[in-house]
Amino acid sequence: MNDIARSDNRLSIEKSDPGRRGIRFKNTLKAKESIPAGLARKTAPKLPELSEFDVVRHYTKLSKINFSVDTHFYPLGSCTMKYNPRVNEVVARMEGLATDHPYTPESLAQGCLRILHETACCLAEITGMDAVSLQPAAGAQGELTGILIIRACLADRGNPRKYILVPDSAHGTNPASVTTSGYEVRNIKSNAQGCVDLAELDRALTDEVAGLMLTNPNTLGVFEIQIREIADLVHARGGLVYMDGANMNALVGVAQPAAFGVDVMHLNLHKTFTTPHGGGGPGSGPVAVKKFLEPYLPVPTVEQTADGAYGLNYNRPKSIGRVRSFYGNFGMAVRALAYILANGFQGLKQTTEDAVLNANYLRKRLEDVFDLPYKAPSMHECVFSDKRQAARGVRTIDIAKRLIDYGFHPYTTAFPLIVSGALMIEPTESACKKELDEFIEAMRAVAQEIEEDPQFVLKAPYTTRITRLDEASAARKPILRWKP
Ligand SMILES: Cc1ncc(COP(=O)(O)O)c(C=O)c1O
Repeated sequence: MNDIARSDNRLSIEKSDPGRRGIRFKNTLKAKESIPAGLARKTAPKLPELSEFDVVRHYTKLSKINFSVDTHFYPLGSCTMKYNPRVNEVVARMEGLATDHPYTPESLAQGCLRILHETACCLAEITGMDAVSLQPAAGAQGELTGILIIRACLADRGNPRKYILVPDSAHGTNPASVTTSGYEVRNIKSNAQGCVDLAELDRALTDEVAGLMLTNPNTLGVFEIQIREIADLVHARGGLVYMDGANMNALVGVAQPAAFGVDVMHLNLHKTFTTPHGGGGPGSGPVAVKKFLEPYLPVPTVEQTADGAYGLNYNRPKSIGRVRSFYGNFGMAVRALAYILANGFQGLKQTTEDAVLNANYLRKRLEDVFDLPYKAPSMHECVFSDKRQAARGVRTIDIAKRLIDYGFHPYTTAFPLIVSGALMIEPTESACKKELDEFIEAMRAVAQEIEEDPQFVLKAPYTTRITRLDEASAARKPILRWKP
């Protein structure tokens, strides 16, 4: 690599050139003088000295080496990386919505309260549930909130119980939420179809079991077809049914969890309802409950009075309390409502059908090349195993790395844990057929390369700025601090 090419890899501080600077603002605020002497730094921090143009180029280059939904097909299973429509952003930035303070008096915040109320009403209608709190700030926090609601309800009945049953295919946040809430986890094994085994459930349901925490469709992308029987069994033993609704992108407009026996569930607005994920913005994990659990929802709830005005109800003696400051991530409710209203019922249903169709199309076109451990029809995603490729020494992580060279963000590797060497692929409805076909061709090409030259695949990726990392060391001994 020549010097010019190498210079692209330098950190901003390494590009620093003493004396270079961007705009010099007039110090009208007298900032220096206003800092108490004891708190002021003695020496200036060592910041990069760069021109405005240097900074723009630096960050533009960094943005180009990243993969994102806006640049690449992003089939990261269990994450529903669908397109976030830009109109959501336009709406969320409207004056009054972006600038209102959470302490604005209710009489002056009627529009914002109405948005919260209508978002909750839409989510109640979509799930079939009776009441919704938008307060939890992520799916995992929604889970914790829901389990705390179960706990409060059973305590009220004078029978709090001890265990929550969690299938072995569950997302890691499920057992974590159960434990954090003070319950103990009891795992139940999935059957050969990847679903809850009714006989196993029956055996596990003692009078110490507070409930079942079930993901539907589950993390194999399979719909629990016996969900009605499962719910009836749990209820018959005095337990409650919690549904992890993170995979609702496969159900919206088609099936309502309330109808198949769910008592409490959460939704991930940043998955199903097109609000940004992770680093792209705060999350939102609303909790939806049946009527008998409504008194336990976090405080405050947004309610409409008989005269049509909206207000915050703090007078809720049975509430589990607050789980987050104020009323949740308000901007996420705005974006989700924009998405729901822009699509309408038909649009949401079509979205669901397209997401399911895409997952099944991928599955059908790849199942002759990759091992498919569970044969049930796919919902939002399909899960293969690396069994055939592992026979040639290539594992799921290696296939994922090689996929980057073909211009695709990798699928989720090695999850769910009940599939050895899992390739978990979730295309979402956002991918068109041409894009799916390109992805399929890339996957098939990698499989062919593995047949011909497995060593070549093991060293991928070749086209990225940094090639193969020692992943275990990177995760366990990360070096996050720059040293000169
Ligand atoms: C099935 C399932 N449950 C729970 C979660 C947790 O959601 P969050 O990451 O918002 O905490 C996820 C996240 O993707 C998930 O896929």
